[in-house]
Amino acid sequence: MTRNLRSKIIGTGMCVPDQIITNDDLAQRMDTTDEWIQQRTGIKERRWIVEGETPADLAQSACEQALQSAQLDVGDIDFILLATLSPQHEFPGTSFFLHEQLGGGEIPCIDLRAQCSGFLYALNFADSLIQSGKSQRVLVVGCEVHSTGLNVSTEGRDVTVIFGDGAGAVILEAVDAEQDTAGILQVRLHAQGKHAKRLWIDAPSSADWPQRITQEMIEAGRHFPQMEGRYVFKNAVTRMPEVLLEALSAASIKADDVDLFLFHQANLRINEFVAQKLEIPEERVFNNIQRYGNCSAASIPMLLAEAERNGLLEPGKVVSMTAFGSGFTWGSAVVRW
Ligand code: COA
Repeated sequence: MTRNLRSKIIGTGMCVPDQIITNDDLAQRMDTTDEWIQQRTGIKERRWIVEGETPADLAQSACEQALQSAQLDVGDIDFILLATLSPQHEFPGTSFFLHEQLGGGEIPCIDLRAQCSGFLYALNFADSLIQSGKSQRVLVVGCEVHSTGLNVSTEGRDVTVIFGDGAGAVILEAVDAEQDTAGILQVRLHAQGKHAKRLWIDAPSSADWPQRITQEMIEAGRHFPQMEGRYVFKNAVTRMPEVLLEALSAASIKADDVDLFLFHQANLRINEFVAQKLEIPEERVFNNIQRYGNCSAASIPMLLAEAERNGLLEPGKVVSMTAFGSGFTWGSAVVRW
């Protein structure tokens, strides 16, 4: 008889660089103010790497914490999935450098690209590996270093004030669904490529012939992120409630029965809007964007790690996680802790 398997989160970890960049620090380099940034986004400060720090360093630290909290070694893991939109190198990405730093031997690893929804996409793939019986334990990481790719001048201020650097990791383990009620209950994902250029980086592009990056492109700032902020905002506040309810309904759980809501940390106003729309009381939403900014694929695993350290995630608690990002991509996962 085949066992009915479920993926359970058995360890969490996070890491941010030590360097704090306040809104006032940014205001010294571009035409912005602490008041504008806090009012529009809720962000007070973010972390940026310093010379010598790499994405893989942040990811390594988050993973080591997750392994320690699960009381495991890297040798106990049989797949590493790392979600990022800011790979350490164009190829092979970030996960292979992390793999080497963790001493991953010959464990398979991949980078996965689904931008700010990347962690939920990775969670879904990890869940499929576990439910199919192909993997016993999967390390799922979200990792971003935005700071080295931002236009830190008035021209780039709309995007630059939002982003921060960080990494978060979780370990999923196969459990017998008949014996253990904890684990991933449902994940729902969506994408709509027609919006791809509403939030993107144009260059380097392998579609640019005959060379993917030129001096002219750099001078035109095509290597910096570009965003139609209002358009993204409107889509986020529509899609997030939709997919959140879709995942809850698939799990046969009412919004009232969710103990903790974790939203992607793009803008505190987006999250307040979503909570208001669904009549979710403030105390059931945990945000950390005020301190870290938008860390894209790392935001949700960082929230999980902090929520667990803060005692918000005790066994039996139901957690709903929802994200929206470039692509556009969006998704939601329901987990019983
Ligand atoms: N400081 C000061 N002024 C700024 C600014 C900054 N950092 N960024 C933009 N502005 C200015 C604009 O130039 C514009 O000035 P104008 O009216 O003279 O032209 C004005 O503020 C309003 O700009 P707008 O882009 O319409 O602001 P907004 O209220 O939409 O807020 C965002 C901008 C980026 C905070 C908001 O659109 C947003 O959060 N969007 C979604 C972000 C998101 O989810 N990203 C996805 C990541 S996954």
